[in-house]
Amino acid sequence: MKHLLKMNDLTREELYHILDVADELKAAQKASGTPHLLEGKSVALMFSKTSTRTRTSFEVGVYQLGGLGSYMNAATELQAARGEPLRDTARVLGRYYDCIVWRTYRQRDLEELAEYAGVPVINGLTDYAHPCQVLADLMTIRERRGDLAGQKLCFVGDGNNMANSLIVGGLLAGMQVTCVCPPAYRPAADVLMFAHKYGSAFTLLHDPREGVRDADVVVTAVWNNTVGEEETERRMRDFQGYQLTNQLLQGAKPDAMVLHCLPAHRGEEISNAVFEDHADEIFTEAENRLHVQKAVLSILLAGK
Ligand code: CP
Repeated sequence: MKHLLKMNDLTREELYHILDVADELKAAQKASGTPHLLEGKSVALMFSKTSTRTRTSFEVGVYQLGGLGSYMNAATELQAARGEPLRDTARVLGRYYDCIVWRTYRQRDLEELAEYAGVPVINGLTDYAHPCQVLADLMTIRERRGDLAGQKLCFVGDGNNMANSLIVGGLLAGMQVTCVCPPAYRPAADVLMFAHKYGSAFTLLHDPREGVRDADVVVTAVWNNTVGEEETERRMRDFQGYQLTNQLLQGAKPDAMVLHCLPAHRGEEISNAVFEDHADEIFTEAENRLHVQKAVLSILLAGK
């Protein structure tokens, strides 16, 4: 593994290796502390968008690994915000830092950064993919269920970065994956082509009741993070019936897990009751961002 730009870059073996290292580092942190695998290494934490979990979990994770993490607001503080070409920013940061984490909009910008930086690049979220989040989701499911293979995973919501990454990650891990989204909010075409190769292990549906039937794990994410009243009203209409409620979840397995990458909009994609009933799973999922990202950093920078 050279970079972590999207889930499709990983083999099944690489995916499971990340999860194994994450479990090991989580246990070490809770027992006696994390080994300083990044001693003398520095990681650029570039954010072109707001973040709570991704920013802080990377900052704390690099610190626990004994390295230096430098947060930079790429939208306002770097010269890139005033027009410095991305490939120049990449070549400069690549000479100071051992790794770059970037949260941005376009996947192709992230790919360009990786092409020019000369050091490993990690996707901190783009419009297309959120691999760090999905690795934490898989870690959380395996931690609670003991295994991923054969588990029925259902994503309900917008076919965006979370759906794209969860479909690929779940299928790579050997899960049965269903994605339920309104017809106008389908996952990316290349992700659907990837999923097609897995035959009956993948299903794309538009009826949430059908999708959650017998699910072991139900995942959702915000579908209304738009600005503007008109777009909000449109999404409220388009996603009617897509809220995770106790009534909808009656169709899932009685002990089904519910995950949410956060931040959550209670009353939109998830009811307050479902969120609070599954809060322990959801906040463990958030915690596992820390452990899984430490694993990715350790593999990329310390040959773990
Ligand atoms: N889930 C997630 O990526 O959270 P942040 O947007 O707070 O980083």
